[in-house]
Amino acid sequence: MIVGVLGLGYWGPNLVRNFLAHSEVSKVIGCDTRNDRLKFIAARFPSVELINECNKLMEGEADIVVIATPVDTHYKLAKKALENGKHIWVEKPFTSTSAEAEELIELAERKNLKIFVDHTFIYNGAVIKMKELVDKGELGNVLYFDSERINLGLFQRDVNVVWDLAPHDISIMNYILPKHEVVAVSTNGIANFNGSENLAHLCVQFKQNTFAHFHVNWVSPVKIRRMIVGGDKKMLVYDDMEVMEKIKVYDSGVDFDTTESIHQALVQYRVGDMFSPKINATEALALGAQEFISAIQENRVPLTSGQDGLDVVRILEASDKSIRNNGEIVELDSSVLI
Ligand SMILES: NC(=O)c1ccc[n+]([C@@H]2O[C@H](COP(=O)([O-])OP(=O)(O)OC[C@H]3O[C@@H](n4cnc5c(N)ncnc54)[C@H](O)[C@@H]3O)[C@@H](O)[C@H]2O)c1
Repeated sequence: MIVGVLGLGYWGPNLVRNFLAHSEVSKVIGCDTRNDRLKFIAARFPSVELINECNKLMEGEADIVVIATPVDTHYKLAKKALENGKHIWVEKPFTSTSAEAEELIELAERKNLKIFVDHTFIYNGAVIKMKELVDKGELGNVLYFDSERINLGLFQRDVNVVWDLAPHDISIMNYILPKHEVVAVSTNGIANFNGSENLAHLCVQFKQNTFAHFHVNWVSPVKIRRMIVGGDKKMLVYDDMEVMEKIKVYDSGVDFDTTESIHQALVQYRVGDMFSPKINATEALALGAQEFISAIQENRVPLTSGQDGLDVVRILEASDKSIRNNGEIVELDSSVLI
């Protein structure tokens, strides 16, 4: 297969490297309008053919077009690639609006082309292990999902911190809790500098008795990448900054005796063992590239599809609406989610 990577800025070179390494890929074409980025790729990956005009890539021999440009360009470039008969890999977040995502999904279906949305963490060994543990019932019923992704981050020109960072955590939540229906979102955030929020707290309510919270921040003195999944049997902490023990499962919790009256309710605390399972260290992007190429060859929907991208964009849109109205609860039509 021939893969064209459009956008060779910060993230694009990682995509180039992973597609180059794939045994089914015979050629990688890189495209950017900036000459310095083309030179950067030429120095590191001499076998990559380079062009500076995206129309040439769209109309050329590539089977797959990978879109790694800023978010506000995704829809236009993705549509053009689909119209030219290319399968598309689109970076997160999929599009700037749910209407754009719906249109791309419909166009791809009509042309029997595949859309892969790069929710990279779904291919991360720690997240795969979390999913396995939740599916096996190791944690029991999931009570809450609490995540923090903060550091001195790169301000994006086209999106706020929620659109930049939260897609990672929302996609993990959707993957781990596929049977949970999101019914409402409420977000508070602050834009200290340029009118675009640099810190936000996003809360998600489900039809089930589960709650999710995401804290994202570009202006934190420390880098934290941590999430807690609380279950009624066990609880799990995923700390991506840990080198060795990224996941820890705690046999801890509370047993609440509700047979007593509210004034006499008995709470028993349980603090048991902790174990840290072994996780696969394969690079997530390599597994993502493998999944997309297999999905195309087998003519099936990839694990992180256009629909998964749309589910995330709907939550991001609701979050924007909530921020504009000081954290009001924005209800979602749960029938179209997850
Ligand atoms: N999956 C992940 O973990 C991850 C990590 C970082 C970024 N991203 C995503 O990747 C995308 C790109 O982010 P980035 O940080 O690399 O941005 P960036 O600004 O560093 O790079 C974007 C590049 O696209 C080029 N470009 C823009 N429009 C173009 C066009 N029409 N034709 C050719 N080239 C064009 C720019 O010149 C630039 O070099 C975003 O959607 C971002 O959210 C994903």
